[in-house]
Amino acid sequence: MAKISASLLSADFGYLADSIKAAENAGVDEFHFDVMDGHFVPNLTFGPPILEAVKRHATLPIDVHVMERSPEVMIPVLASAGGDIITVHIEGVADIDQTIDIILEAGAQPAVAIRPRTPVSALWPVADRIRRVLVMTVEPGFGGQDFLPDTLPKISEALSMMQTIHSDNPFEIAVDGGIKSATIAPTLNAGATTFISGSSIFSHPQGVQKGVATLREKLATANSRPLREA
Ligand code: DX5
Ligand code: ZN
Repeated sequence: MAKISASLLSADFGYLADSIKAAENAGVDEFHFDVMDGHFVPNLTFGPPILEAVKRHATLPIDVHVMERSPEVMIPVLASAGGDIITVHIEGVADIDQTIDIILEAGAQPAVAIRPRTPVSALWPVADRIRRVLVMTVEPGFGGQDFLPDTLPKISEALSMMQTIHSDNPFEIAVDGGIKSATIAPTLNAGATTFISGSSIFSHPQGVQKGVATLREKLATANSRPLREA
């Protein structure tokens, strides 16, 4: 079943609790919390105190997308502030195995992300230790950017890597960046299972309910299309 993860980066921070409730009522499956440090990406967002506030209002799991250089020290803090899944960038850490150990010791589920220019092959050494891969479909750093179509083959490649390594075990291929009504179906067809979306949910002109419903409709239509279309 396809999962929709609502990226709080596009929520109205003055009314965060309301945005969280609206997204939950609209039927999202998870929240996505983008931590940026101004070094790994040219932007700063929020950290543990805001995550604690989100956790107080959210009933759904929270995926913390850590866009930090050397995030090792912050990982336990982010996990205890409410991160259920901690997604780290393979480009941002010195030793990915050690970083995964830190996430597991902190009691969170590890996931590993790659930037658009990082090949899927970089994930092979750790693929057996994770159940979720995040293929960035924009350069990380900002919401509201255009989806990069060049990333589509990477989604399929990540899918076949995880199928090879995990065979019967469940796993997820997440996509993040520019996921909206026009781009969600191609990512599903390429093999994505988890769709992280910010602006198409929280900045939808007809509201959060409509934003989520539109994404779900696109996923349902893509699913019902015969596999081998003439
Ligand atoms: C970008 C973030 C995304 C962002 C996506 O670096 O990682 O999670 O919120 O926003 P949209 O869906 O607007 O592209
Ligand atoms: Zn993100």
